[in-house]
Amino acid sequence: MKLKLPIGERYYDMFIMREMAFLVYPLNVWRRSLVKGFLDFSYELSPRPKKILEVGCGNGFFTRLLSYRFPSSKIFSIDTSQKSIDHAKKRHLSNVSFKKADFFEIVGTFDLIVSLHVFILLDTDRAFLKIKSLLYDDGLAFLTYTNKTPFTELHRRFYNVVVGDRIDFKTPESLIRIAEKHGLEGRIIELNYQEGSFALVLSKL
Ligand SMILES: C[S@@+](CC[C@H](N)C(=O)[O-])C[C@H]1O[C@@H](n2cnc3c(N)ncnc32)[C@H](O)[C@@H]1O
Repeated sequence: MKLKLPIGERYYDMFIMREMAFLVYPLNVWRRSLVKGFLDFSYELSPRPKKILEVGCGNGFFTRLLSYRFPSSKIFSIDTSQKSIDHAKKRHLSNVSFKKADFFEIVGTFDLIVSLHVFILLDTDRAFLKIKSLLYDDGLAFLTYTNKTPFTELHRRFYNVVVGDRIDFKTPESLIRIAEKHGLEGRIIELNYQEGSFALVLSKL
């Protein structure tokens, strides 16, 4: 049975409430280690991308670090939540354009697509086809996911009740299979053990 509390429809606009969760010490530590690992290997694999697309930037927490790490890149950061975009814009990052937009509606071509904990929410087949259409032939996409752990099991239940959407766990193996089906090569990089988070690196075959 699908439950939905009234805040569900506005969940992604309530970024300040979601940020409060990161006051909890282990969540804060996991988030920092995730972001650091993610930025380090993004830089290692793609040190000079001209155009970067960030999908689901939220309040711009990660965008700020991305902007500092890639100061010569032009970064396009999108989110479907207008409130998050309004807040992110206040960060005044000179090489970033923030826009309220749905990933599936984006047109253009990018050297690097990055996204932190967003693709777990999207239909994988549709999302990978879209990624393929947005990447240059030598472009890369780095997407983070979370796998099954006691912590993420709890989080899924909370999400199901509060937001009303069901999130199925996506295993690294299943994501690599779906990527191959759509002409993409997938590689996995482990990021955080407790949260079961990992990054999927996609490139065109
Ligand atoms: C779990 S939050 C992650 C936010 C941010 N990446 C972070 O790590 O703090 C997911 C974000 O993705 C956005 N989102 C969900 N579906 C989207 C879509 N189709 N296109 C763009 N943004 C989307 C939501 O509005 C929300 O801000």
